[in-house]
Amino acid sequence: MRRPLIVGNWKMNGSRHSSIELADNIARHFSAGDGRVECAVCPPHVFLADVASALGGSSVGLGAQDVSQFEQGAYTGDVSAAMLAEFSCTYVLVGHSERRACFGETSSQVAAKFLAAQGEGLTPILCVGETLAERQADRTLEVIAEQIDAVVEAAGLDALTSAVVAYEPVWAIGTGEVASPAQAQEILAFIRARLGEKANTVRLLYGGSVNAENAAQLFEQHDIDGALVGGAALQAEQFMTICQMAET
Ligand code: PGA
Repeated sequence: MRRPLIVGNWKMNGSRHSSIELADNIARHFSAGDGRVECAVCPPHVFLADVASALGGSSVGLGAQDVSQFEQGAYTGDVSAAMLAEFSCTYVLVGHSERRACFGETSSQVAAKFLAAQGEGLTPILCVGETLAERQADRTLEVIAEQIDAVVEAAGLDALTSAVVAYEPVWAIGTGEVASPAQAQEILAFIRARLGEKANTVRLLYGGSVNAENAAQLFEQHDIDGALVGGAALQAEQFMTICQMAET
């Protein structure tokens, strides 16, 4: 039985004050250890310490939005996996499409970040997804396979089966255009099949315009074990509603 996981990706939003307030509101609803659903939030790096203390003794996990592929040294602006671990992060997003598109991250860099994260005991949430042009050209499966295989080649299949994979079609991110439950299920089943024998225990998430209106239908799908939520995770009420929907 895979425990549902809902992760809020706050992206580059909010202030120090609003991040603490949001974390506080979420934490209040998740006292230690309760519930079948696991939830976590990924604030901007600079707010990790504040958010970690606001989450305090709640059961809400902490994650980061990105990690350096390097261990340490002259990499101005980067934040290492060891640093994230020091701030009580348990998760880190790797390969989010905004990193791939806006910052030119390649699949091999993503694989290096994945390895760096696991090397420090963090659980990477590997994000994969096709653009609209790729979907229209009927290249969706090819693109997803390439993104998954780059990590499998670098880290091995076992490493991937101890991580989390999020399918986030680029055309659905921040657009309000959510993939249909059938579309999401098709791709997540494809990903699970690609992960081999141990794939049954791997948690697979869907991300892309998930909100309180569409989450329940998505969670009914066999291979969807939770969600990576952007915009809707910035409102405590909505984020908590999505978490509750994953309970059932
Ligand atoms: P969205 O973002 O929910 O705002 O579409 C999801 C994500 O980018 O992780």
